[in-house]
Formats: sequence, C-alpha cells, structure tokens
Amino acid sequence: MATPPVQVYKALVKELQFHDHRYHVLDDPLIPDVEYDRKLMQLRLLEDTFPDLMDDNSPSQRVGGKSLLEFSQISHSLPMLSLENAFDSQALLNFDRRVAERTDEKENVNYVCEPKLDGVALSLLYRNGVLESAGTRGDGTTGEDVTANARTIRSVPLRLQGDSPPNLIEVRGEVYIPHKGFDLLNARNQKDGEKTFVNPRNAAAGSLRQLDSKITASRPLVMCVYGVGIIESVVKPKTHFETLAYLKGLGFLVNNHVTVAADIFQCENFYEELAKQRESLPYDIDGIVIKVNSLQMQQRLGTVLRSPRWAIARKFPAQEEMTRLLAVEYQVGRTGVITPVGKLEPVFVGGVTVRNATLHNLDEITRLNLYENDTVIVRRAGDVIPKIVRVVREYRRLNAKVIKFPEHCPVCDSALEQLPDEAAVRCGGGMNCPAQVKQAINHFVSRKAMNIEGLGVKLVEQLVDLGHVRSFSDLYLLDLDIFCSLERVAEKSSRNLLQSIHASKQTNLTKFIYALGIREVGEGCAQMLASRFQSLDALIAEPIEKLIEIEGVGPVVARHIVDFFAEPKNMIIIDELRSIGLKFHDLTNERNLDRPLEGQTWVLTGSLGLMSRERLKVTLQTLGARVSSTVSAKTTQLIVGSKPGSKLDKAELLQVPIMTEKELADFLISHDLHSQGTAER
Ligand code: IVH
Repeated sequence: MATPPVQVYKALVKELQFHDHRYHVLDDPLIPDVEYDRKLMQLRLLEDTFPDLMDDNSPSQRVGGKSLLEFSQISHSLPMLSLENAFDSQALLNFDRRVAERTDEKENVNYVCEPKLDGVALSLLYRNGVLESAGTRGDGTTGEDVTANARTIRSVPLRLQGDSPPNLIEVRGEVYIPHKGFDLLNARNQKDGEKTFVNPRNAAAGSLRQLDSKITASRPLVMCVYGVGIIESVVKPKTHFETLAYLKGLGFLVNNHVTVAADIFQCENFYEELAKQRESLPYDIDGIVIKVNSLQMQQRLGTVLRSPRWAIARKFPAQEEMTRLLAVEYQVGRTGVITPVGKLEPVFVGGVTVRNATLHNLDEITRLNLYENDTVIVRRAGDVIPKIVRVVREYRRLNAKVIKFPEHCPVCDSALEQLPDEAAVRCGGGMNCPAQVKQAINHFVSRKAMNIEGLGVKLVEQLVDLGHVRSFSDLYLLDLDIFCSLERVAEKSSRNLLQSIHASKQTNLTKFIYALGIREVGEGCAQMLASRFQSLDALIAEPIEKLIEIEGVGPVVARHIVDFFAEPKNMIIIDELRSIGLKFHDLTNERNLDRPLEGQTWVLTGSLGLMSRERLKVTLQTLGARVSSTVSAKTTQLIVGSKPGSKLDKAELLQVPIMTEKELADFLISHDLHSQGTAER
C-alpha cells in the first residue's frame, strides 16, 4: 500500500477548518461552495483510502455518529447561572445603583450590552485547544453531555485557533436557529409529513437534545458565545469586552451587536435601539443582557442565589401569550374573501392589548385544529397582525365547540364559494354585498387611487349603509344636503369633500386602473399597464395570450384583468364614470391632450388646505403646466397656501402673479379646467 500523504492530509484539514471559520463564524466565505465541496471530497477520499490518517477533528466529522441510548451527565465546575430580569427602566436604574453601592464606585460604571439570544445555553470545554466535551445547562450544576451533537455545529470550533491556545477553557454561549434555517427546516418537515416546530427556540432545544447526532447535524444550529467559565491560560483578559475579543480570536462566533456603554443610560439607549431592530434581525432575541465590564468588579460583586450581581437581562415585552378564543367572526374583504377573525379574551402581548387575531382562512382553522373556547397561544411580533400560533390541546375545555365555517356571506347572505385551487372562500355577492362595496369605495378614494381627500372609512360606511352609494359613480352624485345629513360632518367639511370629489375627476390612467381594484393589480402593475397601453380601451381589448407575455403580469394577473373587463357590471361602472366626466389621460403621453396650461410654470408654497399638494400637482400637470419648486422670473403663477415660505417674497420681488388656493379653485371651476382635457385615449 502507498505511504499515507500525512502532510497533504494535515494541510487539507487545516485549509478546510479555515474555510469553515470564514463561512460559519465570520459569515464571509472566501471560496464558492462548490470549491469547498470539492476539497471536502478530496479529504474524504484520503480518509477512506488511508483510515489511519483520520483526525477526530477533521471537517468531515461534522455529520454525527452513532446513536446514543441516553445522555450521560456532565457536571459544571462553575455553576451555569441564570439572569435576573428587568422589565422597565426603573429596574435598570436600581441595578446600576446596587452595583455602584456594592463596589463603592463613585464614577459611572462601564457596562457591556449584548442581545439576549433566544435559544439554549451550552458549555464547551477545550483542553489543549481541542474540544473535549459539551454540556447543557441542566439544573445549573449538572447538565447533559451533548458532545457528539455540539461537534456537528459548524460555528463550534473543534480545535481552537491561534498559536497558544489556553490549557483549559470553558466557553459558554447560546445555541439557536436563525429564521432562514428555521423556515427551511419547517418547510422540509412539512414536506416529509413530519411535525413542524412552533418557534426557533423549541427547534434549537429539540435539535440539541437528539440521541442521534446525525439528526442534530441536519439542523441549522448556530452557537454564539458570550462568556467563559473556568480558564487556565497565560493571557487573561481584564474586561468582559476583552474576553469577547479573545474568544473571537480563538475562532468562536461572537454577536456583532455587542457594545460598551459608559453608563446605564447608554444601556437603556442600546435597549431602545435594538428593540427597533428586533424584527429585522435574522434570529430571535428576547431582550438585552447588561454586564459590568470590569472582571475585577464582577468578582467583587459575586452572585446571589442563582444569579450574578454583575449582570441583568432587560427583557422585551413577550411576543407570545396564552389566552382564550371566545368566538370567531367573519370579515368580508374588498374582493369578497372571507377572513375568519378570532375574538380573544384580551391579553397583553408584544407591548399592546390584543383582542383579535387573524385566522387567515378555513385551512388555517383546520391546520390549528382550533375549537371555540380553546386555550391558544397568541403571537404579536412588532407591527405584525396578531396571530394564533397554536392550540394548547391539553387545556381543551368541555364546552369547546367545533368551528363551523359559514355557508353564506355574513353581510349579504349570498352563497360562499371556494375555487378548487384557492384557499380563500369568497362571497359571490360582488357589488351587491355592502361589505365589498365599502371596501371597494375605500380603495377607490384612497390616496394612490382617486385621492379623494377627507372621505374616510367612517363616512364611506355611513354613505353605503344609508344607501347613498352603491357604486363608484354614486360618489359623483352626492350633494351638500347628503353630506350635511351625515353624522359629525359640518357644512365646511361637506364643501371641502364635494370639492375633493370634483377635483378627483381629473386623474391619470395609472391611478384609474389602480382605483378599479382589479385583483392583484397593485400600483406598480397599474403604472406598467398604463404606460404600455396608453389607453383603457387598448387594455380592455388586449387578449389574454398577449397579456400573459407582458413582464410583470403573468397568467394569474392576466386572468384577473380579463375576467374583470369581461364582467358586464364592471363595464357599466366604467361607462358611468366616463359619462360623469372622469378623465384619465396618462401623463406619460402628452400627445393629443387639450393642455391649456402648456408651456407655463407653476409653483406651490405654504400648506394647502383644500387639495393635497399631490392632487394639485397632478391637476396642473394634466393641464400641461410644469410644476416647479423654485420661483424665478419665468414662473407663470405662484399658488400660496397658509404660512407661505420665502417663495412668496421672491415672487413679489419678481412680480410673479400670485393666487390664493381659493382663487385657484375658483379659477379651475370657472374655466371648467377641473374637468378639462380631451377624453382619455
Ligand atoms: S450571560 C450569568 N449573555 O439567557 C449569566 N446569557 O437566564 C450567564 N442568554 O441561560 C448568561 N444571551 O443562555 C448571557 N448575551 C447573553 C445571553 C445569555 C442569551 C441566555 C443564557 C442564560 C439565560 C439567562
């Protein structure tokens, strides 16, 4: 047999260890994955051919080994402590005061702030630079020996970096699963018909406690370290921050948000800052940990019961809480989709009191196996709509009731329908369903659509309920008497509303297409359709085969567009709007327009009350004017709102004609310019 290429093998092990560190710890890979895989294959080939060469810490050994019958116990020479919690800033100030008193510190105490990672604690013991054992926290004194599992975690070095590793060091940190890995893991489990995990923390805990380390190896675990237990080394850091830098140098992953704070107020600022970033971090955190930076001071402070006096956890409000599902109500959306909403016993979660949680659709209720009166876990993360993540089956009550999805629309009683390839159940009532009319009108009047200012949800609700509005065109038939008859609408605002409705007749093709509320046609899609077709009739005439081919449309949206215009009721609505005088020329194409303000430059200053700046701009641009932000001798007209800026002074100096907003409105109406322009092309 050939002589084993010891040097080649050792060099390859070292090279792969280096790339592992770049990839899993520094998150900065040097070589592409395929190149890494090629080198790993070479290594495996050498190990298969010359088994005697095998290094226990070879990068090929991250795949797990034999399955255990049970974990053996591991005792921690220094107990693994837990942290005291602070739920408000007063508790932090108290902590700071206690630290100062106990250490006789006259100056501000220096702290280190770290994210509190939401995973499971793990302790790693290295002897002469090699990973010897890994143990869970257990009861703080004795944990479980999960060495084989820890060895599969890529960010856990099997061998420490540097020329003079400590003789003995126990490193502690948190094992967790980042969001991306968690989603992939759950998707994979779902596909394989296996149980999915409730949250990344449970997934991490379950993965670390597998008797079969091959399973652990298949889970995307990460370990981030935050401290040391025992250490026998020549180099001894003096501060906690230096300790973290030292651990980084040994090849460990250290969180990159760690910051030194000069006093407790800076710690509170760090908390506020991190709370803002919490949702965008790629892993779960449940607060911050504040630690006295000086290790000498830490020693003096010592511990009380099971917590150190030198550290505290400032917790974020919990994102998950337990409560009871009282009932399920059904909301009708703009396109008739019925959304079940869980009515909850009020619960404080994610920093607010939550009473409702979305249940998405019928499938979700089935998936959760949810009954009325069930005890449920509610999650509210950031500004995300609260949702029921699971049912606590063990607490199911005797009066728990099966949820029966309605067969008729709760608002208009039309039959509900479910298309074969859709999760959503819909009300077939269309514009005969008041709930759909209200939402369609709310969308139609919204800023990015027809931009009818002042016509809020409450007013729309009244107008529809009182039978004044059944379709878009009814909005243009409303008069002063109707508005004045509504609750909490004064005459002045009624006049403003009429003015807004009137002004909205001047729009452009993008806004009009968007306002129609065609399913899945958002603002961007409407814009693309407008600039491509230049006229509504051209869009209506386009066959589905051609629509599909347009980039950004695709088969689903194309079907929605064609279905929308194939519906006679929708075409009637469009005709009605046209005959009322709605003009939707597209600004992108200026040909053939009747543009009375062509060649003129208008400037707006001050805050405008009657019309929004955006609407006024569109109106003026539609009429051909260029709207500029600076006054010059070439300015045709300055419109002044209240509290005008220096533009007014400049205009007076240059003798530029000045018009108040009210004068402008009169000007537009008297010259019939508000509806001026040729019919849309
Ligand atoms: S220090 C004595 N730092 O929070 C203090 N802990 O109850 C030892 N944790 O079980 C912990 N992130 O697993 C520390 N940056 C961090 C942490 C952290 C998460 C966990 C740790 C411990 C629990 C505290």
